[in-house]
Amino acid sequence: MTARIIGIGAYAPEQVVTNQDLTKFLDTNDAWIRERTGIGARHVSTSEGTSALATEAAKRAIADAGISPEEIEIVIVATSSPDRAFPSAAADVQGAIGAKHAVAFDITAACSGFIYALHIVQGFIQAGIYKTALIIGAETLSKVLDWTDRSSCILFGDGAGAAVVRADETGVVKTLVGSDGTKNDVLYCQARSLENCLTGGKPELGFMQMDGQEVFKFAVKKVPEIVNAILEETGTDREAVQHYLLHQANIRILEAASRRLKVPMDKIPVNIERYGNTSAASIPILLDEMHRDGRLKRGDTLVMAGFGAGLTWGAALMTW
Ligand code: UT7
Repeated sequence: MTARIIGIGAYAPEQVVTNQDLTKFLDTNDAWIRERTGIGARHVSTSEGTSALATEAAKRAIADAGISPEEIEIVIVATSSPDRAFPSAAADVQGAIGAKHAVAFDITAACSGFIYALHIVQGFIQAGIYKTALIIGAETLSKVLDWTDRSSCILFGDGAGAAVVRADETGVVKTLVGSDGTKNDVLYCQARSLENCLTGGKPELGFMQMDGQEVFKFAVKKVPEIVNAILEETGTDREAVQHYLLHQANIRILEAASRRLKVPMDKIPVNIERYGNTSAASIPILLDEMHRDGRLKRGDTLVMAGFGAGLTWGAALMTW
């Protein structure tokens, strides 16, 4: 048995912030952002938190799968921007959708989170522990961005994507994940500090800090490396893959991957222009768009690959 995605859904908050909007408070311009990143706009949440976005995406995925929430045995939310330190966003979703037989927990693997979640449920399904899972990538990174730092805040957007996964004969062929914690300072966000009345300070919350060029160098090397590894380990020809769904971080990273992998851009779908980088949500949002507009056909071979803070990376090869 393996994991098969049987339903997919996505949700982004209503408010759209264009590059032009950013110029009202930031020393930047539309041409620079488009040229250096491929981004034209992003969704920014003004009222809904990560759990609310995740819940809406989950409801859509469940409707698409045509199952009852009570059939779900495990809910995993991959997020780096939960509304609260605890309980988990997954517990919020479980309660909101009525998945009353499910165990629920969050994972943090930054932009690789959706692939990590798929990797985890694949293990549970192969082991025969669970048959039906709900995995979600959801972020409201807008609240941890330093909106005065033009080299990072222009990149990110809010959103959520969810998938119902069920044990089946075909589906995920292989997942491959990895981490390098020695590079944990390249992209990070400090949580609540140790300061309190005993240490003599005031608790503080940090903002995202990013060494953009280091992340860029890592991504253009790692994405082709893991895609090649998963093709090789599964004995799959690159031409046999219909779509390469790569984490939407920067159009230049996608183009570099296209060159290095010798895969044409028409096999590497792009929606970063409208969403920016939605971190753990980027791959399921893209999957949802492609499912709804008919680009995904049952039986297609897909490769998904993500990378992000940690550093983390992950890839999956599956039959749709
Ligand atoms: O999910 C993973 C998340 N992170 C990433 O994927 C980040 C990967 N890295 C990147 O996407 C790119 O490194 C950035 C888009 C962040 C930056 O692009 P870059 O081509 O590496 O630019 P840079 O940092 O080398 O900056 C070039 C110039 C600098 O000016 P000077 O020093 O040459 O005068 C920056 O100050 O561009 C300037 N700059 C900007 N100008 C206008 C940086 N940000 C902006 C901006 N608008 N928003």
